[in-house]
Amino acid sequence: MLQPVILSGGSGTRLWPASRETYPKQLLPLTGPESLLQITARRLEGFAAEIAKPIVVTNEEHRFIIAEQMRQIGKGSDRIVLEPVGRNTAPAMQLAALVATQEGGDPILLVMPADQIVTNGPAFLASMAEGLKQAEAGALVTFGIVPDRPETGYGYLRTGEVMPAASSARKLAAFVEKPDAARAAEYVASGQYLWNAGIFMMRASVWLKALAALQPDMATACQTAVDGAKRDSDFIRVDKTAFTACPSNSIDYAVMEQLGAHPELGQPVVVPMDAGWSDVGAWDALWSVSTKDAEGNATQGDVMLEDTHDSLVFAQSRLVATVGIKDLIVVETPDAVMVADKSRAQDVKAIVSRIKAEG
Ligand code: GDD
Ligand code: MG
Repeated sequence: MLQPVILSGGSGTRLWPASRETYPKQLLPLTGPESLLQITARRLEGFAAEIAKPIVVTNEEHRFIIAEQMRQIGKGSDRIVLEPVGRNTAPAMQLAALVATQEGGDPILLVMPADQIVTNGPAFLASMAEGLKQAEAGALVTFGIVPDRPETGYGYLRTGEVMPAASSARKLAAFVEKPDAARAAEYVASGQYLWNAGIFMMRASVWLKALAALQPDMATACQTAVDGAKRDSDFIRVDKTAFTACPSNSIDYAVMEQLGAHPELGQPVVVPMDAGWSDVGAWDALWSVSTKDAEGNATQGDVMLEDTHDSLVFAQSRLVATVGIKDLIVVETPDAVMVADKSRAQDVKAIVSRIKAEG
């Protein structure tokens, strides 16, 4: 049994003003009629394995939108786990693993961030099939993307030899989360590293054992939080006091980076994935993966473009017109309009920080 786990706790500040804390990017229809969450929940359609209803881990505030969006696409979740506070991805995943094994059984967990795009569905499923074989054999599986730039916001996977009898799965020789720019450049130039897609697959028991060994305080806090959880129809509200006391850390730092020093936890694996993956971190990435007109513009809503090139123009509540522009991001919402140079898309978070600070 394959148990999808969708992590939907982030707020996507670099996609302001479309993405807000109350309505973060993964819940927005940024690339078509469906939200990134809905696209993610559908990604396993057609996969040749028995698939359970997804477990979604999120916060109180987004619970109704998430439940509704999942229902809309016929993927209603009966286990939406609610975190009283954000403690990053390692505790979120631990909650999912505990909930997935509550009634016995040891499903294979497939952990997916709610905010990614994959343009080649069949290639994605082929990588998942390869990963499933490795996970069934007891490995903790990561998925690797061929890097095209020294991005510092990603994890890097050093690939080792091909696994016995595998077609593409390799030993994961090292995992480095968010290296500095110099090291990232070195890794890309070496040809030995892949980007970590942020997607993980392993038996629940393999994860639970790794977390207990590497982060015992986190494991204990999450166990207490789940033991004290209250069910409210499809929502599972974990115990606030216990979860608030849980250390905050990501899967990448808390577990993946540590595995190299702990051979007793097994050989982690990387499955290469060439599926048009993008994590839609900022507006320029969204422009890259969007369908564009003949002039290279990605648009949404009521827009009128005159001599406009290689730009992203989104209008939510009124007509937006552009004349004689190139490489710009223009995003209009009812209460905020943002215009940015496409090459400065990462810096949108500076505006969000200022809004938070200045009110
Ligand atoms: N439920 C829950 N709770 N979800 C969370 C939390 C949390 O506290 N924090 C983050 N998430 C969700 C985010 O919404 C996102 O979908 C996913 O977990 C990953 O978190 P990010 O914060 O976006 O991680 P990152 O982008 O810095 O790095 C990760 O992803 C990269 C690829 O996009 C790492 O795995 C990197 O190694 C990887 O390259
Ligand atoms: Mg991310």
